[in-house]
Amino acid sequence: MKIFLDSAELEEVELAASYGILDGVTTNPSLIKKAVSSRQQRGEDVDLQAYLHKLLETAADVPVSLEVIGTRREEIEKEGIFLFGQFNPIADNVTIKVPVNPALSEDGDNHYAGVEAIKALADRGIPVNCTLVFTPEQALLGAKAGASIVSPFAGRLDDYLREQNKQIFDKKDYFPADGLKQGDVLDDNGLVSGIDLVGQCVDILAEFGLAAEVLAASLRNTRQVREAALAGAQIATLPFEVISRLLVHPKTIEGMQGFTRDVVPEYARLFEEKKEKGSRIQGFE
Ligand code: G3P
Repeated sequence: MKIFLDSAELEEVELAASYGILDGVTTNPSLIKKAVSSRQQRGEDVDLQAYLHKLLETAADVPVSLEVIGTRREEIEKEGIFLFGQFNPIADNVTIKVPVNPALSEDGDNHYAGVEAIKALADRGIPVNCTLVFTPEQALLGAKAGASIVSPFAGRLDDYLREQNKQIFDKKDYFPADGLKQGDVLDDNGLVSGIDLVGQCVDILAEFGLAAEVLAASLRNTRQVREAALAGAQIATLPFEVISRLLVHPKTIEGMQGFTRDVVPEYARLFEEKKEKGSRIQGFE
């Protein structure tokens, strides 16, 4: 499974890229707002054009999703073409993020504007990440329209299910993949958890041979990352905080403490001698 960083913070992109495991970056208007506000609070002026330029260069080898802001088909299409034309030449790594349904109310007349714009952008050869997916049928339509990535929001579906439960949860709490039982399992039209949503998206796209990759988004803890992988998601996008916890286990730390403590001088000297003599092994100097 590919690991993307879900952040517009330049420092986080730099650090995650330096780990050597970063496969991509996703942003959205809320993440950009967070990055801009934190700089403004530090008294910095933000030239967003230049900032995004730097971010794309920093993530040069991996795709970066930039999101449109319009709600009508023509706006979304124009914005997608603009974002791609403006920013893709910097490092050839821009994917345009389009909401599967940009309507601001259930009785809006623009429920298909996202899908129409996805089709128009994909027809121009612009890679599209279809976002704000909360049902497998949304994923199906986004993929049929030509999105190369579809992004189910696992954590937010869990939030939606939790809202039906009387207990108090923190949004980062683990949500059981096979559903939360309160007498009966809570469900949203047949979906019992965000991970269930991810798995159903994977299964449906595979069933019909649709090329889009499923990107599990809105993941907030390491256990969900594992379950997204087991559900077959091709990509998981993670906040930096979750990436930084992925390798942490108390027994790994305890093991390291033991190994470090048990290094006998004879063993340590092996490495010292290698260093002193200079080694023929490349890079050991
Ligand atoms: O990629 C989508 C993500 O940024 C949403 O995360 O935790 O706000 O639901 P969250």
